[in-house]
Amino acid sequence: MTIYRAVPVCCGHYLPERVVENAEFEATLDTSDEWISSRTGIKRRHYAAEGEKTSDLAIAAAKAALANGGMDGSEIDAVILATATPDQTFPSTAVRVQTAIGMKGGFAFDIQAVCAGFVFAVAQADALIRSGQVRTVMVIGAETFSRILDFTDRGTCVLFGDGAGALVLRAQEGTGGSEDRGILAANLNSDGRYTDILYVDGGPSSTGTAGVVHMAGREVFKHAVVKLAQAGEAALDAAGLDKGDVDWMVPHQANLRIMTQTAAKFGIPMEKVVVTVQDHGNTSAASIPLALSCAASEGRFSPGDVLLIEAIGGGLAWGAAVIRW
Ligand code: UT7
Repeated sequence: MTIYRAVPVCCGHYLPERVVENAEFEATLDTSDEWISSRTGIKRRHYAAEGEKTSDLAIAAAKAALANGGMDGSEIDAVILATATPDQTFPSTAVRVQTAIGMKGGFAFDIQAVCAGFVFAVAQADALIRSGQVRTVMVIGAETFSRILDFTDRGTCVLFGDGAGALVLRAQEGTGGSEDRGILAANLNSDGRYTDILYVDGGPSSTGTAGVVHMAGREVFKHAVVKLAQAGEAALDAAGLDKGDVDWMVPHQANLRIMTQTAAKFGIPMEKVVVTVQDHGNTSAASIPLALSCAASEGRFSPGDVLLIEAIGGGLAWGAAVIRW
């Protein structure tokens, strides 16, 4: 029986033009560049311009990925877009990407797993490719979190930013072993008992408004350090690999201290952890594909490298995936 692997072909990203430095918050909030950078690692983030939507960011990232791979949009069979900040309640933001990149058929849909959305989307793309239903998938994480922030809440508004990243995965025959290139395994989890520690207080069927982010940061932090390590270990186990096989960790960019503690649990030195939080802040579902695309464009990954991606966010929802680049 033929085994198909979802192999990375190319990636791209887009960041809105406006850069907001930590110091900007000092004018309106009881905060400081020193507090934000020492507690989170964040120095700046990008905000979408007025009228610039999540789909605009996603389309720019998708087109950048296609250009980097020398591909045409008509080669894409499916778009899976992870976002918690869609343009509209419906249709999906993904269908706007489908049209904008010139797909002639296929399908597109959104995934909502907040900050873990890209890991969930990669796992769905892998499943579709493995089952032979599609050959080439554009996986995107795109967010305009600046639209759902309470700018009077210093505990949340300084943390988040806007951006988009895209990764193209294509079917390639493999052996089924851990030496194959592609998505080797994923581990997905959620636990709805923790909805009240990270949520947005709005939605179409409750308030009829979009709402703003609320987070019990310290609580989420504690869950993150434990659950990310568990998910990473489970994904490596399912891939038939162990911690020592990981060449690069590409974590969700929420807080440098979470990344440092998780990397230490895996025995991975920080030079092997892709860190972009200082320039992007927490871009939710966009953070991993942004980090992947930045690192790839700097030529940091070599074919055959083992990448561990992992993320946690509202739900709680969390997961990890192992990719042989
Ligand atoms: O992407 C989804 C997943 N999200 C995460 O993974 C985020 C996880 N959590 C975190 O990254 C951290 O918990 C935060 C960065 C959100 C907060 O850092 P912390 O070290 O856990 O701080 P804390 O919430 O325990 O607050 C410590 C103090 C508090 O003051 P008191 O009560 O000790 O007087 C806060 O009011 O820091 C205060 N504080 C601030 N001070 C200056 C909170 N935000 C700020 C701020 N500037 N922006």
